[in-house]
Amino acid sequence: MLRTHNCGELRIENLNDSVKLSGWVQKSRDLGGLTFVDLRDRYGITQLTFNMDENQQLCAQARELGREFVIQVEGTVIERSSKNDKMPTGNIEISVTKLTVLNASKTPPFTIENETDGGEELRMKYRYLDLRRNPVQEKLFLRHKLAKEVRNYLDGAAFIEVETPVLIKSTPEGARDFVVPSRMNEGQFYALPQSPQTFKQLLMVSGFDRYFQIVKCFRDEDLRADRQPEFTQIDCEMTFVEQEDILSTFEHMMRHLFKTVKSIDLKDFPRMDYADAMRLYGSDKPDIRFGMEFHELNDVTQNLGFKVFDEAELVVGICAKGCATYTRKQLDALTDFVKRPQVGAKGLVYAKMNEDGSIKSSVDKFYSEEQKQAWAEKFGAEKGDLILIISGNVNQSRSAMSELRLHLGAELGLRDKNTFAPVWVTDFPLLEWDEETKRFHAMHHPFTSPKVEDFDKLESAPGEVRANAYDMVINGVEVGGGSIRIHDRSTQEKMLSLLGFTVEEAKDQFGFLMDAFEYGAPPHGGIALGFDRMCALFGGSDSIRDYIAFPKNNSGRDVMIDAPAPISKEQLDELFLQTKPAK
Ligand code: AMO
Repeated sequence: MLRTHNCGELRIENLNDSVKLSGWVQKSRDLGGLTFVDLRDRYGITQLTFNMDENQQLCAQARELGREFVIQVEGTVIERSSKNDKMPTGNIEISVTKLTVLNASKTPPFTIENETDGGEELRMKYRYLDLRRNPVQEKLFLRHKLAKEVRNYLDGAAFIEVETPVLIKSTPEGARDFVVPSRMNEGQFYALPQSPQTFKQLLMVSGFDRYFQIVKCFRDEDLRADRQPEFTQIDCEMTFVEQEDILSTFEHMMRHLFKTVKSIDLKDFPRMDYADAMRLYGSDKPDIRFGMEFHELNDVTQNLGFKVFDEAELVVGICAKGCATYTRKQLDALTDFVKRPQVGAKGLVYAKMNEDGSIKSSVDKFYSEEQKQAWAEKFGAEKGDLILIISGNVNQSRSAMSELRLHLGAELGLRDKNTFAPVWVTDFPLLEWDEETKRFHAMHHPFTSPKVEDFDKLESAPGEVRANAYDMVINGVEVGGGSIRIHDRSTQEKMLSLLGFTVEEAKDQFGFLMDAFEYGAPPHGGIALGFDRMCALFGGSDSIRDYIAFPKNNSGRDVMIDAPAPISKEQLDELFLQTKPAK
């Protein structure tokens, strides 16, 4: 071994030990008679000393060391004269007797310390250097620990990990596929899996009973802080289960993870159906760390002469406790916030409850004191509270109000990263009407079963049918989603026809699955948890990118290896592909 110890483990108990250490030069300080070097590896930092009086040649060699040189030293552990109680190794240093440079380094493009001066793009380009920094490494250690605990838990619950193929045929999960041309089949393409959905269902048909896989999935969709084109799922499926069994199994798993990884005891996860989530929070992934629930105000605001409210499908409000002190400027800022195109509201009405119990609003012209008091009653508003109201069509007003609620929650410090508020959102609609294509889309995916009690509406009112589908939401993050599946051919055929597939198309794309359903397919269901999102949540970050060793940037590029990139004419020909002539 090129070392006897790592750079984080030597203590005062090791005094006088002869040791060999290897690592990177983080910093060196030349004080004339003495040269100090901070030697770093994954485990920590140890201070090295080179003494001019003891060995001039060695000292001269040490002065030549640059940042990030890889070195090996031999020496003796000695007590530091000025101790550093912020470092675990801060009581000792190594009096070096031999120094070997294992590899020199160019000056790195940014400082490799806990706080760095490198901008985002630069750090992405030199990701291998960014990954040398301790806070970045810690994120991947957290990821490793979570994956290990997931495996422990699922193994203990009789799940087995099975790998499914990466070169498959397109599975519709709502996003675009990444495709791979086939050299041996002219004009034909594989698709990379958006998830292993159909394969895990086939494993249930095969009798594996409980499957999981920590698996890469690929989706060609617009990127955000919580989305990457390739990401990892903890994908799971179980046989002979009902919704309750899945919720219970994965709630236990999540509680196990919080306990083992963060020493946090989570209480039972509350349940909320989709309709309530939308009504009370305007979102199917409500952040319930704080209240500020919506109240619908149509009955107390309409037909009283204010045209904007009168013409609205929905008048909806929230109450911000103690915010009546908001100044004109602060209220204008909130109005600007909701009017941003991403939020999409036309305006914001406010009503402040004064200290004397009277109400001052931005629409005083249209409403009497008594009428405004009726609004306040809806919220149980008290003196000093601020009511904020948005109106318009149902979906837009809810979504804008949801953004405002989250914005205010953050502004008021109600979204603490160390508080965790999980919730199961259940009873999603089976289908979603798409105005653009004028057809239904599966809200989850086409393999999700409708609720038995809504079966009779499949023909008459498909938009009202609820699904046996559920999402696990923590702090407003959709951590995972799943469903109980269809397991018989005729229901699957009916579902595909509702989604606008012709019989031929259905057979062509999903014949293999429907055929399998005819050979004793058991009832089954499952869930997939977004592993990158889970890591970010556990680590207290909004961006999943930090928890992926080599992530893509916002344009889906890997700027380190510079991908995607053109391929040669030979490769294109071999794959029967043509490119457009360069513009
Ligand atoms: P779904 O599409 O809901 O379900 O995906 C499951 C979970 O995966 C995470 N996720 C993502 N994470 C990062 N980047 C992305 N682009 C991305 N897309 C999704 C989310 C999400 O909740 N086959 C079904 C699961 C099932 O029915 O069992 C599926 O993939 O956290």
